[in-house]
Amino acid sequence: MRLIKLNIEGIRNLNNVQLSLNPQFNFFFGSNGSGKTSLLEAIYLLGRGRSFRTTNLPSVINRNRQHCTVSGLLLAEGGRQIRMGVTRDLGGQFNFRVNGVAVQTASSLAAELPILLFNADTFALLNGGPSQRRAYLDWAVFHVEQSVRVLWQRYQRALKQRNNLLRHDKMDGHIDVWDAELAKLAGEINQKRRKAAERLFALIPQVLTTFEEVPQVNFAYYQGWDEEQDLQDVLKANLESDKKRKATNYGPHRADVKIMAGEERAPAKEVLSRGQQKILVSAMQIARGRLLADVANRKSVYLLDDLPSELDREHRLKLARLLKTMDAQVLITGVDSAELRMEPVVGEEEFALFHVEHGTVVTAN
Ligand SMILES: Nc1ncnc2c1ncn2[C@@H]1O[C@H](COP(=O)(O)OP(=O)(O)OP(=O)(O)O)[C@@H](O)[C@H]1O
Ligand SMILES: [Mg+2]
Repeated sequence: MRLIKLNIEGIRNLNNVQLSLNPQFNFFFGSNGSGKTSLLEAIYLLGRGRSFRTTNLPSVINRNRQHCTVSGLLLAEGGRQIRMGVTRDLGGQFNFRVNGVAVQTASSLAAELPILLFNADTFALLNGGPSQRRAYLDWAVFHVEQSVRVLWQRYQRALKQRNNLLRHDKMDGHIDVWDAELAKLAGEINQKRRKAAERLFALIPQVLTTFEEVPQVNFAYYQGWDEEQDLQDVLKANLESDKKRKATNYGPHRADVKIMAGEERAPAKEVLSRGQQKILVSAMQIARGRLLADVANRKSVYLLDDLPSELDREHRLKLARLLKTMDAQVLITGVDSAELRMEPVVGEEEFALFHVEHGTVVTAN
């Protein structure tokens, strides 16, 4: 999947941007506040129907406008061309179109334009709470094992019922019914998650081999309760503490991924340097791209916001080489154009360079 043409109207300071993109690398440079992140935000909106910066979408719309529009022409695997468009107004009205036909959900967009984003928030995979890592894992589960979606919805409904009983302290024996239901669904979800986790985690060290100086990293899946026990028994044994906390403390909704590094197997966030962390989280994103290419034969578009920061030239080039092996389209932003050019890894014909200045974007190579 490659984005060959892009039009942006009314996304933050980008009022009228029309670009022809390179099918391989696209570099955007410009001063702070010029509109680089907004450009990636616009593409993300086209592929996901939402922003990566905010859940408050009106703030994405240019402050002098009533609505924003992003549209693009995509070249799919096999040469098929797809027109996509997203419009959103201040009142919250959304309009998604694929080849001129309205589609109802953002997931229909993602099916056409899979996007993988790397920015400062991606570090949360290492430094943030378990929910970030669960989301990372579940993205893979949903792609490898689509049937998990229905199981997950049923699990969430049952969990809500159990938590309601805990909150109002009126169990009347009903809690056993929900425990049994939760345990049954948890077993099925866990099996699928574990399978997807193994597949995804096997890809990350392969990606990391390019960076032999990054200490060995290990990924361990925690299922959300003691592996030796049935969830129903765990729920029963912890009923009193669940009642006190008015919430269910064990189950797949508490799953996590433990990421350890080095011989001492200490948490990666404690032993890896900031640059090494950036390489690791980038490798985790690239592994996602590989998984999607393997299971669905779809190539993602990679968005890297402010790649140069915290990486020296050698590591930038290594990352570029790795992205090149993915044979996918890449958009990279940075302040300084000299730091973005990736010769000799990315040759003259393989990239487009753009200067972003006060909300305008012009070709610079
Ligand atoms: N709703 C809006 N309407 C108009 N302009 C906005 C709106 N929201 C933000 N801006 C402005 O848009 C500009 C572009 O911001 P953006 O984050 O894209 O810059 P950037 O090039 O990524 O900068 P940096 O290098 O600092 O990351 C900023 O000047 C910002 O203040
Ligand atoms: Mg920015």
